[in-house]
Amino acid sequence: MSNTLTKEKIDWSNLGFGYIKTDYRYISNYKDGKWDEGTLSTDSNIVLNESAGVLQYAQTCFEGLKAYRTVDNHVVCFRPDLNAARLKSSCERLEMPVFPEDRFVEAVKAVVAKDIDYVPPYGSGATLYIRPYMFGTNPVMGVKPADEYQFRIFTSPVGPYFKGGAKPITLRISDFDRAAPRGTGHVKAGLNYAMSLHAIVDAHKQGFNENMYLDPATRTKVEETGGANIIFITKDNKVITPKSNSILPSITRRSLLYVAQHYLGLGTEEREIRLDEIKDFKECALCGTAAVLSPVGKVVDHGKEILFPSGMEHIGEISKKLYDTLLGIQMGRIEAPEGWIVKIA
Ligand code: PLP
Ligand code: COI
Repeated sequence: MSNTLTKEKIDWSNLGFGYIKTDYRYISNYKDGKWDEGTLSTDSNIVLNESAGVLQYAQTCFEGLKAYRTVDNHVVCFRPDLNAARLKSSCERLEMPVFPEDRFVEAVKAVVAKDIDYVPPYGSGATLYIRPYMFGTNPVMGVKPADEYQFRIFTSPVGPYFKGGAKPITLRISDFDRAAPRGTGHVKAGLNYAMSLHAIVDAHKQGFNENMYLDPATRTKVEETGGANIIFITKDNKVITPKSNSILPSITRRSLLYVAQHYLGLGTEEREIRLDEIKDFKECALCGTAAVLSPVGKVVDHGKEILFPSGMEHIGEISKKLYDTLLGIQMGRIEAPEGWIVKIA
């Protein structure tokens, strides 16, 4: 997929998860201890000093959320306040200045309003991905935080994160760790993703879709994948998800647990999940903004296959209900809990 498509030429139903340049992005600079008023720009390029903090010491963090075109043709986004709060915690952990949470939400709305023609049509299966991010811009040499930062938000229309959409994927147990026990796994630092690149390239080479990472301290408990949290469905239809200090607090996962309890009447549990117990679960899925809810059919642990009863052909029954309900809320077909849906147009 080229990244220079004009909106008139986009084949919405066949989009993958890739970068397509849109017209506007939001930019605000931090200097002398404060953020400027921010602007919307058509320039997608960034010019940086060669010793910028982001280039030398990876001082950057990001967020991801989506804008949806609803059944009644409004444009909305989903719980942007939680992305603002998570960016705040990422910035605090990385010694970066916090971008005010209310301004974050306003900036998301402003940039989506400008790129409105890139919000894919209702029913196309595509959405507008929104990528807020921040990075250290001024030169640093000693290992220390930058003094100047840029916060930006760009958008890109996207299709499914995993090719094949609702077809179950295969994970392998990774021999690499993505986060340290008291490291940065719980925040959305760019460095976590750099850490995962070798593991994902290797997983793809070996024919797997993604890595299932274990807890770095004991390597006996399930954590998450490189870009999504994990949920399991027990044989008695409970939705369970790993509890750990080194996984990202997924907004999708938190929303799905609420949907399970309040819309579907299912039991939920957040607890440590041992690798040796996952063979007893009925269904497994990845969840995240990009992944939405992607069914996992199989986990391979060094040649030993764990095939979930839901199989490699179809999404499991409970996963499907969770997916349909969450998507229904996002697309305006099902009434949302108070504050989840923010209308842009
Ligand atoms: N875990 C990781 C490592 C991620 O990169 C993401 C994506 O943001 C998630 C989980 C899912 O989080 P969310 O549902 O907030 O998008
Ligand atoms: C997201 O789901 O928004 C993510 O950031 C995952 C990813 C593309 C790394």
